[in-house]
Amino acid sequence: MQKSNVYLVGLMGSGKTSIGKILAKRMGMNFIDLDDEIIKDQQCSITEIFDKFGEKEFRHLENKKLLSTLEIDNCVISTGGGIIMEEDNIKIMVENGSIIHLDIDLETQLLRIKNKKNRPLLRDRDDERKILVKMRKERDHIYKKIAVASVNTSNKKRNDIVSEVVNIIE
Ligand code: S3P
Repeated sequence: MQKSNVYLVGLMGSGKTSIGKILAKRMGMNFIDLDDEIIKDQQCSITEIFDKFGEKEFRHLENKKLLSTLEIDNCVISTGGGIIMEEDNIKIMVENGSIIHLDIDLETQLLRIKNKKNRPLLRDRDDERKILVKMRKERDHIYKKIAVASVNTSNKKRNDIVSEVVNIIE
């Protein structure tokens, strides 16, 4: 494949960060997690950013961070689940890399994100399942449309998932 970066997109809990790290190692590429970069810059958690400044500001920071990836290459970039909700973000990723969608079944997703407190969009709400179903409806078709391929990560070993991705991008 021609374009040098690999952008991993997908719903929360789909494994973008853990798969991204192994993928980068295997491919001899660098690795960046956009949420982690925002946390480093702001010196506070994503939840604190949502609390202090709201989701709109978080989306602005996310877009700025993504824009900065235009200056790098040979990098696996793990994105936050909502990145595809901004048209401009899709354009940036399409122009500067290959987009891979990490897909996940609802039940596996629910198990993976259970009791994790670092996801502000799920906090303080009783019906996680309902929220995740709604998000899935809004987002799944977009991930699938913009990605060169979708790889299901449910009930698979990390190394096998990475091998699938490597086969696609090589
Ligand atoms: C979000 C997903 C999170 C993080 C933020 C918003 C979303 O990242 O960017 O909490 O809108 O789905 P992960 O997908 O890595 O959990």
